[in-house]
Amino acid sequence: MKNYRKLGFDSQETKEIVESLNTLMANYHIHYQKLRNYHWDVEGHSFFELHEFFELEYNAVKLQIDEIAERIRIFGMKPISTLKEYLDISEIKETNNSLGSEEMTNEILNDFEMLISLSIDAHEKSSLAGDLATSDLLIGYIKRTEKSHWMLSSFIK
Ligand SMILES: [Fe+2]
Repeated sequence: MKNYRKLGFDSQETKEIVESLNTLMANYHIHYQKLRNYHWDVEGHSFFELHEFFELEYNAVKLQIDEIAERIRIFGMKPISTLKEYLDISEIKETNNSLGSEEMTNEILNDFEMLISLSIDAHEKSSLAGDLATSDLLIGYIKRTEKSHWMLSSFIK
């Protein structure tokens, strides 16, 4: 039987990957809650499209949050798990429930840009460490978020 080949990252490199994954996950949590709020609160002539789009996004984001947390567990660490910590760490900020549909779409486009930036940051850590599996997850998130960004920005033109 062929010997088990491990990927070549050490505990210090894993620590940096975990930190960047926790940061990304905290941002995804706030973004997720914003998408849910906008799904509920959106009004106006774009109601049906945006109501549906926000739901598709939060369902995809929910799966990504789970993948990130489980990747951290694979490294033997526990993901951060309290809403307080997410709020403290997140670059993406909550909004109130009085936004119009244009403000909502601008918020979500800005969130997408932040999430892509944070995914690139995390990818730098994982690729430096030779962690192919985390890199693959992050590349998938970047691809998906870039596509969502394109679709939403095309819709509002
Ligand atoms: Fe709903």
